[in-house]
Amino acid sequence: MALNFSEVGVIGSGQMGGGIAQVLAAYGAKVKLYDIAEAQLAKARAGIEKSLQKLSEKGRLGSAPSEVMARISFISKLEDFADSDLVVEAATENFEVKKELFKKLDQIIKPAAMIGSNTSSISITKLAAVTKRADKFIGIHFMNPVPLMKLVEVISGTLTSPDTLSRIQVLVQGIEKTIIHSKDFPGFIVNRILMPMINEAIYAVYEGVGSKEDIDNGMKLGTNHPMGPLELADFIGLDTCLAIMNVLHEGLGDSKYRACPLLKNYVAAGLLGRKSGRGFYEYPAA
Ligand code: CAA
Repeated sequence: MALNFSEVGVIGSGQMGGGIAQVLAAYGAKVKLYDIAEAQLAKARAGIEKSLQKLSEKGRLGSAPSEVMARISFISKLEDFADSDLVVEAATENFEVKKELFKKLDQIIKPAAMIGSNTSSISITKLAAVTKRADKFIGIHFMNPVPLMKLVEVISGTLTSPDTLSRIQVLVQGIEKTIIHSKDFPGFIVNRILMPMINEAIYAVYEGVGSKEDIDNGMKLGTNHPMGPLELADFIGLDTCLAIMNVLHEGLGDSKYRACPLLKNYVAAGLLGRKSGRGFYEYPAA
């Protein structure tokens, strides 16, 4: 069955943007994946190819990996989104970066085209207000790794129209993911709960409550989490975790959301987790 958007643009070819592009293409959409950095696009292409190969070997892909790849074009000009019916933004978790992108995008895409932001914490209402199409703007928050995770969190801003919401619901059903609806408050549902837990695990390291291995094993074996919180923080990216904690702290104004100083130090030192090769653990291949 075809998806209800024929051409979808994706902004940002990091782990989230690459995964979103992959899943949409796997379910039949023509996808344009944009990034400002050519090297990042090449990395995304290799990551998508590897993931498709894995899924195909396990019989979890409806079409051949080459057919899916043929539906994705890798672009470095925003102007190439002129024919897209929906653009999903998965750029860095930074309001100023997103604001500049949305302002430009709003001028380029068709009047009827919709914008979805994969922001993990920033107000959808505030992002939508940067454009002249707040009614066609919505939060569509995927989980990492996108091809494996079943959830999409959908967030309507104050001016998002019921039509936009219902079209996004049909799209998410079309890619066989489950929706949860969140009101437009900092961190939405998942990160409002997940990030304070991760931050608390980092405080436990900082205060010497236990070793990082014992903290992770405690949550893995003691509460059946697939990854320990420190391993998960490395997987998400420590810069992203810090950005989300800052949004929670600023937006909710409660000191319980203050980011752990150790998290701040790791990010300042460039220890960002898997993507930089080192965070709480080391990843020699990255
Ligand atoms: N595409 C295809 N296959 C993939 C893949 C991908 N992107 N990532 C992993 N796999 C494969 C692995 O290669 C492996 O295959 P084999 O069995 O053939 O070796 C298989 O999936 C299972 O992987 P692993 O054995 O490495 O590990 P696992 O069984 O623990 O599963 C996992 C991996 C699904 C990532 C699991 O560890 C998990 O669910 N972790 C928690 C993830 C999570 O919490 N995500 C949400 C983060 S929060 C977020 O995203 C929101 C935000 O805004 C920050």
